[in-house]
Amino acid sequence: MEATPRGRAEQISASALAEVGLRYEVDGEIATITLNRPDKRNAQTFATWSALARIGDDLPEAVRIVVVKGEGPSFSAGIDLRLFTPGGVPGEGSFASVLGEGFEERIAQAQKAFLWLRRPEIISIAAVQGHAIGAGFQLALACDLRIVADDVQFCMKEPALGLVPDLTGTKPLVDLVGLPRALELCVTARKVGAEEALRLRLAELAVPVEELDTAVADLAAALLATERSAATATKRLLQGAGGRTLEEQAAAERAEQVVRIRSLFASG
Ligand code: ACO
Repeated sequence: MEATPRGRAEQISASALAEVGLRYEVDGEIATITLNRPDKRNAQTFATWSALARIGDDLPEAVRIVVVKGEGPSFSAGIDLRLFTPGGVPGEGSFASVLGEGFEERIAQAQKAFLWLRRPEIISIAAVQGHAIGAGFQLALACDLRIVADDVQFCMKEPALGLVPDLTGTKPLVDLVGLPRALELCVTARKVGAEEALRLRLAELAVPVEELDTAVADLAAALLATERSAATATKRLLQGAGGRTLEEQAAAERAEQVVRIRSLFASG
């Protein structure tokens, strides 16, 4: 089913999404976002990021699972390299044209495309096949969970191009693999395949490429089996654990549990 507007005239249309190479479908509690420029290996532009942020802003309240996937042989080959050329991307210009005042704000806008995927009330799953390079790797890292195909190749290419990863990927990367491995992966910009991705906890599961959609659907169904407010509270609790002491986390557990048990009794 196509995403249905929620009575908001400004909601981004399917045709506007198609123009920037995205497809967006909502089926009950599951939203699926597909990067859909396979001929360009789903390279991402500023327009991709503003559309992704709009999808996040307008996500129907019923949605509990957001699947992010890529059409074709690659999940995403990262930023559209035309942005680094003088000609840029038609209709969007190039980095050369946005370097002045406000450039940092422009990056902040781009980061919004990634940040909403960690909201506690949803669980986001990246379904990753083939190349996930640079911004593609960071988009996969922006999701809560990653299921990969056996042909996956993660690569944090930014430093090799004279850049830093700036699309919110550095924190999840360090959280997952630890600082030394994150440093090694970023500064060498080497590729990580499925087996190593599993070992480094960059992926929850690796499957043959033809089984990727089924594996994601199975995981979504298993996640949806738990009642929403318990899942949301648990995600919030787990997300906060890294920044708290043991005592603070114990207090956070108590606070969430009081709400849970009161609500369970209130609903009989
Ligand atoms: N930006 C723009 N166009 C791209 C990009 C990209 N990032 N990646 C691939 N394309 C285009 C190619 O130019 C080619 O277009 P064409 O058919 O008009 O010539 C088409 O997609 C297919 O690309 P191929 O290279 O032919 O595909 P192949 O499967 O052999 O290789 C691979 C895929 C490895 C992803 C290769 O395209 C590549 O290295 N791309 C660049 C990756 C990169 O450096 N990304 C930037 C990372 S840094 C960041 O994201 C901030």
